[in-house]
This record gives sequence, C-alpha cells and structure tokens, in this order.
Amino acid sequence: MHQAIQMSDTLWYLGSSDRRLAKFENCHPVPLGISYNSYLVMDEKTVLLDTVDHSICGVFLENIKSVLNGRPLDYIIVNHMEPDHCATLAEVLLRYPEATVVGSAKTHAMIKQFFGDLNLQGKVMQVKENDTLSTGHHNFRFILAPMVHWPEVTVTYDETEKILFSADAFGTFGALSGNLYADQLDFGDFELSEMRRYYSNIVGKYGLQVQALLNKAAGLDIQMICPLHGPVWRAANKIQWLIEKYSRWATYRPEDNEVVIFYASIYGGTENAAEVLANALGAKKVKNIKMYDVSVTDVSYLVSEAFRASHLVFASATYNNEIFPYMENLIRDLAAHNVQNRSIALVENGSWAPVSGKKMSELFSSMKNMNFLQDTVTLKSRGHEEQRLQLLSLADTIAESVFAAELH
Ligand code: FEO
Repeated sequence: MHQAIQMSDTLWYLGSSDRRLAKFENCHPVPLGISYNSYLVMDEKTVLLDTVDHSICGVFLENIKSVLNGRPLDYIIVNHMEPDHCATLAEVLLRYPEATVVGSAKTHAMIKQFFGDLNLQGKVMQVKENDTLSTGHHNFRFILAPMVHWPEVTVTYDETEKILFSADAFGTFGALSGNLYADQLDFGDFELSEMRRYYSNIVGKYGLQVQALLNKAAGLDIQMICPLHGPVWRAANKIQWLIEKYSRWATYRPEDNEVVIFYASIYGGTENAAEVLANALGAKKVKNIKMYDVSVTDVSYLVSEAFRASHLVFASATYNNEIFPYMENLIRDLAAHNVQNRSIALVENGSWAPVSGKKMSELFSSMKNMNFLQDTVTLKSRGHEEQRLQLLSLADTIAESVFAAELH
C-alpha cells in the first residue's frame, strides 16, 4: 500500500527509507539506514521532484500512482543524477511516458549516459540558471549548484510556497521513522553527528561550491527546505541553525575547540602513548577529549570528527616502511575532503626505522593551514621515561593552544 505523506494542499512526500543497506555508496556505514526523498506537487500541472533509489522502487511507484489518482504526470524535475535519486527515472517514465523531463544541460547529458536507450524526444526541457517553470499556482526557479555534490546538480526553488528543494544539500544519514520534519525530532548531538558525517563525507570536499550555493540561497526567502535525504526543515530557527552549520563546514572552520586523538597501534606501544597523552590533557583540564583506534572505527566517522574538532593528534606505527595503512587511509581521506585550518601534532613509532612521522608530515604538507604544534614525538617499539616527558610537554602545548583558541 502507498505511504505518501501530505505536506500541504498541493505538496506530497513520496519517499521512503532503506534500513537494510550496509554502506551508503557502498562506502559509508549507515547503521540507522537512509531515506530517499521525492516530492510531488499537485498543481494545475503535476510535478515530480526527483525519483528514488532502486531499493524502494516498489513503494515509490505506489506512492506516485496513489497521489496522482488518475491524473497524468506532467513534469519530472531532475535535480541530481546520482543513482540513489535517478535509478528509478526510467521506471517512472515507463508508466508516465507523457512526462516532460526538466533538468540542466549536464543533467540531460547524464540521462543519456545512464539511460542510453531512453527515448525522450519531444519530452525534454533544458533549463539554465534562474529559468522558471510555471505550473499554474506554483512557479519554480532553477538554481545551478555544481559539485554539491555532482557537476549537474540543480536546486529548485518554489517561489510560490518559498520551498527550496535542495538535492543532496542539507541531507543527513538515517532512515525516517514517521517524523518527516526536523522540528519533530530532538535533533541532539547524535543526530547532529550523523548530519555532520553525511556532510563531511558526501559534500565536504566541495566547500567552495557549497559556499556558492549558500550565497545564492541567502537571496531567497526560504520557509522550508526539502532535501533528498533525511528530514524536511521548516521552522525558521532550525533553518537558520542548519545554514549556520553548513556555512561553518563549508569554510572548514571547527565547531569545537577540542582534541581528537587518532591512533594506529599494532601491539599497543602507540596506543599506550596516545593514552598517556590523553591522560595528561585531561589532567590539564582539557575537556571532551576523544580517542579513536583507526583500525576499529570506520573512517567516515573519523573524517566527521576532523571536521568538528580544532586540535587533531595523529599517532601511528610504522608498517612496511610506511604509515600504518588505516592511518594513511585516514590522512589521505582528510586531504581528499579538503580538511584545513587545524592544529595538529604527530606521534610516530617503529621498532627499527620509525618513518611514519615524516611520511604523515609529507601528506599534511599538501593541506591548507595545518599548524604543527610541536615536533613529532618518536617511539622505538614503546615509550620510556624520555618519551613520557615529551608527551607531557606535548600535552602542555596542546592544552595552551586549546585554551587560547577562539571559534570564528
Ligand atoms: Fe544522494 Fe549525491 O546523491
């Protein structure tokens, strides 16, 4: 049976959630699932905004059929061509062949790439920046948002109802469980951390492009944000909070003056050093210190923590004359996501030729505004009194820096 949700006289939510998916994009764990959102506007003409992933195709088609209730589907606006949103486009067109497909030039090129045998002759509407589509009462304006998260991305602004259909922007991991709107959820630290993990891993690389979209959005009266994942945002204070978070993340400014220690340890020597450092920081009254064994915690959570905290410590064993693989993967991932403006410190270990510190430094040298707080602390096999004192000194330096730092 259909599970469409009526949002207003003319707007319907047609999405659903997948709680079986292990990894979103076959990359990022989603233990609480993921929602794929789609919206239908029942105006003088009917307008579907994006489709959904294959995993929820069945109920999605039921939702469309039920809400249309015999009316034709006039337009499909395609804001994003990643298959978690467009995989069912051909299925929809099979059932509603009269629909005109609306999208940017890049969108239509991608439709050909993904659906080469789809014949859209006479059913294509190609839109540019600020083009509009009137469907009777509603007037939709198209705003290009390249690289938020793919090059073809468009967001659509409903000038009549002041709704921004924002594609991947303002989304979050996690299935929807009856509460469609963010203001119906507590949206506490856990929900924020999942939204940050979504942002940092999915669009975190494209801060400049997100800033460009935020600048365009600043000129709009937005009373509701309808993203393609996660809850809908409608309360003015929540929308303002959300935009402030995005503005901070897009400019790579930390949210918290706090310390995160990432460590890679084979037999416990490096872990011991990380613990000594953390305890010394705690003794210095540094609060909310976080420690992660990079072999244990999925890298998507680690990237998210690096977007959050101001001070990052990387402690790594040497492995095959390189950085320990999970640590190298983390640092390369941080570089790939353009993480910048952080205070960092390094600890290296190696039983005969410790080189992980030098190699970590080389990776960080390609990243912007990474401020090394102190020389690398070097262990050979395990720490001794000399290294303990170096770690206490490092803790002094980090604590001073944390207390002196201001959030901007
Ligand atoms: Fe949710 Fe970039 O797709």
